[in-house]
Amino acid sequence: MTNDIPFNWSEIGHAVGPCIRPGGPVLTDRALEICDLPAGSLVVDIGCGAGGTLQHLERTGHYRLVGLDHSETLLGEAASRLETARLIRGRAETIPFSNDTFDLLLCECVLSILDDRPAALDEFARVVKGGGYLVLSDLFGKGGHGTADGLLLQQELLDSLSARGFTLLLWEAHDRLLKEFMVRMIFAGESLPDSWGCCQRQKAEKTDRSGISYFLLVARKSGATFT
Ligand SMILES: C[S@@+](CC[C@H](N)C(=O)[O-])C[C@H]1O[C@@H](n2cnc3c(N)ncnc32)[C@H](O)[C@@H]1O
Repeated sequence: MTNDIPFNWSEIGHAVGPCIRPGGPVLTDRALEICDLPAGSLVVDIGCGAGGTLQHLERTGHYRLVGLDHSETLLGEAASRLETARLIRGRAETIPFSNDTFDLLLCECVLSILDDRPAALDEFARVVKGGGYLVLSDLFGKGGHGTADGLLLQQELLDSLSARGFTLLLWEAHDRLLKEFMVRMIFAGESLPDSWGCCQRQKAEKTDRSGISYFLLVARKSGATFT
């Protein structure tokens, strides 16, 4: 899959932010309940955007936080709302940290827009500690929907994670949160990324989008658990 047109996430962030995704902190909190990490755990938010999740987590005072994004503009916006989180410009496909660094890696609404998803998943498996957690949320194609559009598919993703040493703890579909987010974007006059199955051709054909949903996933990397 390729993203031919660079997407203006900063503009969308101004319309719907600071969390530029369906569900906002509600889904992050849901995932964190399952991880139940000790105070001081090191958390990285890959594709942190304008820092909405990091700000939410910073307010708890419970975590040490790192944010990585490839957009200088969005990192600038994140910096203006964060106090302690460390921000780094980089790519999900080449994360500039050593193996087994993070207790938790969050990647919210980013994987679906990457050109090289396997490389990013390899990196997630590399930088999460044994016993550490991976939280993904993103659009996916339900049933047979999505194969042609390059949408993520549930079984394919779960197989990819299992092959990289992750055990699934939670998979939930949140159709309503996706619909609410899309309505907010449309009312704000924003278009939707092609990789979300909403390209111009489909708009013209008024394709049924009921085959697209939004998942929340929590998985745990095999290996030593931390204390
Ligand atoms: C839909 S936004 C989600 C932002 C944030 N995770 C949130 O939930 O508010 C997608 C984000 O992915 C970032 N992004 C896109 N490609 C990336 C890449 N290869 N590596 C790191 N970040 C990337 C964009 O700059 C943008 O901030």
